[in-house]
Amino acid sequence: MRKLAAGNWKMNGTSADIPQLEALANDHHAASVDVVICGPATLLTRMAATGLSVGGEDCHPAPSGAHTGDISAPMLADAGATHVITGHSERRTDHGETDADVTAKTTAGWAANLHVILCIGETEAQYRAGDTLDVLTTQMDGSIPDAATAQNTTIAYEPVWAIGTGLTPTPQEIADVHAALRAYLTDRFGDEGAQMRLLYGGSVKASNAADIFALDNVDGALVGGASLKAADFSPIVTALE
Ligand code: G3P
Repeated sequence: MRKLAAGNWKMNGTSADIPQLEALANDHHAASVDVVICGPATLLTRMAATGLSVGGEDCHPAPSGAHTGDISAPMLADAGATHVITGHSERRTDHGETDADVTAKTTAGWAANLHVILCIGETEAQYRAGDTLDVLTTQMDGSIPDAATAQNTTIAYEPVWAIGTGLTPTPQEIADVHAALRAYLTDRFGDEGAQMRLLYGGSVKASNAADIFALDNVDGALVGGASLKAADFSPIVTALE
């Protein structure tokens, strides 16, 4: 499985941002790693037209229906998406999404042939209490469907306290958590779990990317703020290559 540099634009981006995506696509069209930008549904078609791989940031579990304001996985695919994020902590917090919701959304993403980037992560209080691995295990038990494979799923570890704060765990902490996640995935999914990509997310930027990517079991990153500008994201892609 190739490594993955994924951006998550969250609730950012307008048509004025398309030209810099064209530049990003041009700079990395022959990259030895996968590059995906997950963006707002309003922009996906135009983002996909740049030649970059693009993804949604969430999807509804149902393929269609009376769900005002929601976007389904088939609609994302129709707009040109090849990926979708599920379980992001901002969805879990802002929209009360449970592990069961994440399972349903992940299954819906697969049904639309989308590769799912499934997020897990502990809060600052849980980190301080030393509960990180217990929290992550509970989230993985509850939110990763049994049919997960290396081909259809990537797991993104995003400590909630590291998102948008400029704080990161130490390299040793990231390595320890990723080793534990790999052990869990291998134990539960066998070879598929051994091959499943594990991303780190949370205040990744050009200045720390190389150190993070050098760690065992880190197969890429899910990048928020530093994915918004091609000039910030491009060196992160290069660091992963
Ligand atoms: O999904 C990516 C994310 O939550 C990390 O955001 O801004 O800390 O890179 P950021």
